[in-house]
Amino acid sequence: MALDEFLAELDQLAAQADKAFGSAGGAEAVEAARVEFLGAKSGRLRAVQKGLGKVDKADKPAAGKRFNEVKNQVEAALVAATDRLKNAASGARTGSQFDPTIPGVRRRLGRLHPITQTIEELTDIMGRLGFTVAEGPEVEDLWHNFEALNIPLEHPARDPLDNFYLATGAVGAGPDRADAAGADRQKWLLRSQTSTVQIRVMEKTKPPVRIISLGRVYRPDTADATHYPMFHQIEGLLIDRHVTMADLKSILHLFAASFFQDDVEVRFRPSFFPFTEPSVEVDMSYDGGWIEFGGAGMVDPNVLASVGYDPDEVSGLAFGLGIERICARRHGVTDIREFFKNDVRFLRQFH
Ligand code: PHE
Repeated sequence: MALDEFLAELDQLAAQADKAFGSAGGAEAVEAARVEFLGAKSGRLRAVQKGLGKVDKADKPAAGKRFNEVKNQVEAALVAATDRLKNAASGARTGSQFDPTIPGVRRRLGRLHPITQTIEELTDIMGRLGFTVAEGPEVEDLWHNFEALNIPLEHPARDPLDNFYLATGAVGAGPDRADAAGADRQKWLLRSQTSTVQIRVMEKTKPPVRIISLGRVYRPDTADATHYPMFHQIEGLLIDRHVTMADLKSILHLFAASFFQDDVEVRFRPSFFPFTEPSVEVDMSYDGGWIEFGGAGMVDPNVLASVGYDPDEVSGLAFGLGIERICARRHGVTDIREFFKNDVRFLRQFH
C-alpha cells in the first residue's frame, strides 16, 4: 500500500473522530464514538493499524509514527469529551452557567410603619430642641397613672368605664404608693396617658428636666375616624427655673413648624387637667380650620410636690399630643383606623 493512501485514510479517521467526540451531547454518544474509533476488536483505529502491515517496508517508520500521533489525538478527544460533559453537569448545579439576560426577580423592601416613622421624626425634632427620650411601662400602677398626677381617688378619670384595669392582682413587686395614699390595694391598668412618665422621670432626677416620651396608651373608646382604644402619645416635660406659658407655646410652635414644614398656627383653648394649672387644649391650623392635637399646661405645684420638687424653686411645662393625629395630618389620612388594619396596600404608601 502506498504511504499516501495510508496517511489519507488516517487523516480522514482523525477528522471524523474529532467531530464525533466534539459533538457528542451525552455519555451514550461518547461511548458510541469510543467503541467506533477506539474499540479493541473492531474499532476503526484497529482496522487501520492492520493496514500498517501492508505499507511498503521503507515507508513503515513514517506510517507508524503518524498512526501513533492519530491514536493519541483520538484518545485525547475522548478524554476532552468526558470532561466537557462532567463540567456541564456540575455547572448546572452550581449555577455557573448564569444567564445575565434573564429578567431578575424584584425583591420588595419592607418599610417602617407610618406611626413608627412619625415617632422617629418627632424624636429627631425634639432632640434638636434639647429634649431626650424617656420611657415608661405600659402596665402602670395607680400612683403613676393617677395619684401623683393629682388625680385623687374620687376623680371621675379613674372610672373603670374609662380605663383598662387589669383583672390580675400584683404584677411584679414594687412599692404600692397608691395604697399608702388610701387607694385600692395593688390595682394595675394599661396606662391611659404618657403623663405617667413625667412622674417616673421626676422621681429619679433632680431638676432641670427636659424629656419627651413616646408610646402607646389605652382607653376603652369606641373606634371611629379619630379614636382608637390604643393610640400613641408624645409627652413633653420641661422643668427649670422661670419656665412660663410663653415657653410652652413657642416650643409647640417650633415643633409644629418643623414637622409640618409650613407656618402652622398653634392655638390654645382654656381647659382642665388635674396635673396642670393653667391647662389648655392644643389646636393646630389645617386646611382653613383647626385640629385638636392634645393637651398641655404648666405643671401643677401639687405634682411637683408629689415627686419631692420645691414648687417655689422650679416651675414646668408639659404637653401630651396624639401621634396618630399628627401623622394623619401630615399625610392627609382621614381615618386613623387605617393605621391598624395592617393592609400593606395602605402601609406601602409611606416612604
Ligand atoms: N395626659 C393628657 C391627656 O392624655 C395630655 C396632657 C399632657 C395634658 C400633659 C397636660 C399636660 O389627654
